[in-house]
Amino acid sequence: MINKITLDENIEMLSYEEAISLVKQEVERALVKSPHLIRDYLKHLASSQGKYIRAVSVIVAALDDEGKVHPDAIKAAGAIEIIHLASLVHDDIIDNADLRRGKLTLQKKYGKRTAVICGDYLLSLALKMVSETSDKKRYSQLDLPDYISRLCLGELEQHINNYNLNLSIYQYLKIISGKTAALFEASFFAGAMVLNVSEEQLRKYRQIGYYIGMIFQLSDDCIDFDTTKEVANKPVQSDYEQGVITLPLIHAFKNLNHFKKKAVDEQVTREEINQAVMKTGGLDFTQGLIKKYYNKSIKRLDELMITDDKKEKILLILNKASRI
Ligand code: IPE
Ligand code: MG
Ligand code: MG
Repeated sequence: MINKITLDENIEMLSYEEAISLVKQEVERALVKSPHLIRDYLKHLASSQGKYIRAVSVIVAALDDEGKVHPDAIKAAGAIEIIHLASLVHDDIIDNADLRRGKLTLQKKYGKRTAVICGDYLLSLALKMVSETSDKKRYSQLDLPDYISRLCLGELEQHINNYNLNLSIYQYLKIISGKTAALFEASFFAGAMVLNVSEEQLRKYRQIGYYIGMIFQLSDDCIDFDTTKEVANKPVQSDYEQGVITLPLIHAFKNLNHFKKKAVDEQVTREEINQAVMKTGGLDFTQGLIKKYYNKSIKRLDELMITDDKKEKILLILNKASRI
């Protein structure tokens, strides 16, 4: 193939487009070629595609100065995408959600017990995939299990604080930093580690990933207030109903003490929640924080020694996460 170059070590470097389509193939193959017993369930998951934003993050971070990608990044990107998928399968059980990526959730279609097991199985697929990288020593440095731990602890902390109307901004940020930002950090780290860059540069990649992850979840939490189910392809107006207290509402509670008291004492309607968020500018406040993380990302991005094309691609991810 013309767009493949062969290095001394006989490693076939890939073009960006090739790498992206290979990751999708890799993930899809892992799902649809699973053992017969579990295949129908995983096929259902494969029938709806996600945005692949984490996988794209890995591949973009892995771009070298010639715009080529080391094949190990494919396995890492696939693994991270599958870890994300596992977390969604479990998250939908916790949230009792019926819609994901425009399709019935696994828990809705096949029941919660099946979905729990499938989520666990997906984690095993991810670990297997990352173990297939050619440079295992390098990928042990990624410490995926630690990132999975951070994700789980974030979800657990959110669960422990279910319906905690006193949740502080600090506690909220800690939750989203675990449940979402950690895997984005892992994505940028997993990509950049195939490059021979300094520890300091690697740290910058990780930080950018982390900031983008924070932005992604802050935006997702706004989506619950300001988007329709049709656009989001998943339930909206449902976080509060599931006891998940997010930043727009924390801001409203902080600025409308009587409303918070009412919510503690009695049931408040969704309409009242929305009105309180609107009246106090909860979404603008959240956007303000998104902007802060955005600026931090840009600062780090400017410190990376990368091509303009790569910078632009990272900016695209950043803008997608910020819904710009
Ligand atoms: C949790 O976040 C998803 C994970 C990171 C595990 P949300 O609960 O806000 O995600 P959605 O809104 O269901 O997609
Ligand atoms: Mg959810
Ligand atoms: Mg959400």
